[in-house]
Amino acid sequence: MEMESLRELYVDELKDLWSAETQITKALPKMMKAATNPKLKKAFNTHLKQTERHVKRLERIFKELDESPRGKKCVGMEGLIKEGQELIKEKPEADVLDAGLIAAAQHVEHYEIAGYGCVRTWARLIGEDRQADLLQETLDEEEQTDRLLTDLAESEINIEAEEGGEEAQTATRTRAKQGNRRSTFRNGGSSAENGEMEMEEESDEETIGVSSGRSGMM
Ligand SMILES: [Fe+2]
Repeated sequence: MEMESLRELYVDELKDLWSAETQITKALPKMMKAATNPKLKKAFNTHLKQTERHVKRLERIFKELDESPRGKKCVGMEGLIKEGQELIKEKPEADVLDAGLIAAAQHVEHYEIAGYGCVRTWARLIGEDRQADLLQETLDEEEQTDRLLTDLAESEINIEAEEGGEEAQTATRTRAKQGNRRSTFRNGGSSAENGEMEMEEESDEETIGVSSGRSGMM
């Protein structure tokens, strides 16, 4: 009886993963299109092909179990994908968007890693070793993708996003200083109040620039 209920839980989680994977096959082309960095585009493309294999592996398992993969929508994955799409809609600066896309993709990967880790373990427990091996193969690929994304983020993309932020800050400072000079000229050198306002704006923008530049991956 206990084994039966674990089997039911196993099938239920497999359905969840099948729904998640099919949603990812639709989301990845959009992420690939939105990305600018060629290595990131390639990573998304490679993972799309892997994901198509993950769907097939799951379908093979369902066939063995004589069950249907349909009947459940993975709302967790739906939410994660929606967050990624919202980021794209915000149209951030290209390097910042790339850093954000990595973060979105890693949320997806970690969700899948948790799911595959569970079903792999349950498959062994209920004596489905061949299925456990297949699930382990997918789990390995999800973990590889996660590591690849971390490497890409740490070696260049986060750095480019941070440098972009610094450039924007420099431009803001230059504009603010020019603004000060202009207002001084316009007001015949007696615009201390305007000058102070400009300085306040500058420091505000600087604070925002720094925090958004540092946000991103882990
Ligand atoms: Fe996958």
